[in-house]
Amino acid sequence: MGVVRKRQRLGSSKAVSSAVSSRIMHGKIPGKISSGLPSLSSRHLPSRPNYRNYKKTSKKTFRKNHHPDPAHQAHHPSYPNNVNFKGRSIISINDLTREEIIHVLETARKIEAMGEEKKRNLLAGHVLATLFFEPSTRTRMSFESSMKRLGGKTIGFVDPTTTSFAKGETLHDSIKMIENYVDVIAMRHPTEGAARVAAESTRKPVINGGDGANQHPTQTLLDLYTIKKTQGRLTGLNVAMVGDLKYGRTVHSLAIALSHFNCRLFFVAPESLKMPKTYLDMLAKKGIEFSEHEKIEEVIDNIDILYSTRIQKERFPDPTEYQKVKDIYILKRSMLGNVRENLKIMHPLPRVNEIHPDVDKTPYAYYFQQAANGIPVRQAVLSLVLGALK
Ligand code: CP
Repeated sequence: MGVVRKRQRLGSSKAVSSAVSSRIMHGKIPGKISSGLPSLSSRHLPSRPNYRNYKKTSKKTFRKNHHPDPAHQAHHPSYPNNVNFKGRSIISINDLTREEIIHVLETARKIEAMGEEKKRNLLAGHVLATLFFEPSTRTRMSFESSMKRLGGKTIGFVDPTTTSFAKGETLHDSIKMIENYVDVIAMRHPTEGAARVAAESTRKPVINGGDGANQHPTQTLLDLYTIKKTQGRLTGLNVAMVGDLKYGRTVHSLAIALSHFNCRLFFVAPESLKMPKTYLDMLAKKGIEFSEHEKIEEVIDNIDILYSTRIQKERFPDPTEYQKVKDIYILKRSMLGNVRENLKIMHPLPRVNEIHPDVDKTPYAYYFQQAANGIPVRQAVLSLVLGALK
């Protein structure tokens, strides 16, 4: 058994969130990580003085960008429980309250139940840009599919070397141009903080589809939707996160989100890939019970959700370190003999070796359905930030 942290008095998650942001802006969390793509150096992001400007003006600019219509800054009685997404960027799960998370999930449920005819025109007349500086299958394609199935259109790129980034244009300048062509932007970038910088550069909503090892908020929303669908609730569950907890952005976002729902968390990782202290401190401050482990066998019989993750090869500064841990966890059918009946195995995918194919046909495997849930959840996010649904 690893270290168990007992419940402590609640601290401010906002303070932790702001500390994380501050660390990103000051470069203490590694900022430039190889994406496996042709080099996109930090010159494609605003230079340091712009980062300083960002910090100085962030509150004012944030309000302007996230609530471009002043009417939305005040309580709007027609919005349920004062939740209002119109015009807002979704950069980090930290930006969403518990109430707002529940509202997105409820909107996704309503969209899933909606008639095809109504769905077909929900986002007619709107255009989405998908700007992907890093490889993606699920996130980009499910954003595009979501938009098209709701009657909207998409433009974008999957290879930044075919764009003017290759000529040295900054992210800020590019986003200032792209905002003229579209109503909403979904982007993925290898640099932590890039989506936040993009959101500061435009009045159009920006949705973070992954920024380095930092955050992937729409993945988390679809993960929560999946957990709710399979367990009937989000509260009081035993959830294990397994694998690369250091570089895996999905587990960072998920740990923060689950802290709203009083789940018991088990972190299973080798010493070199443990959940970063920033996140553990945040959980401890919120009084969330968690423990750290090195073996799946220590937790597997006592959990409702096993969230497996890929070892993020592309984020290791030293390839020999990756070789040491690459196949450290391989979940096999033979390990599922005494698990809870309601156990569901999730994975954000792509998997490499973490889950043996012999698990796929067990009643516990749920990773492909989980990916399918990306459609209603991203449809909900798009409809909310575009104001098509409230
Ligand atoms: N889960 C996820 O983000 O998958 P992709 O990298 O294929 O988008």
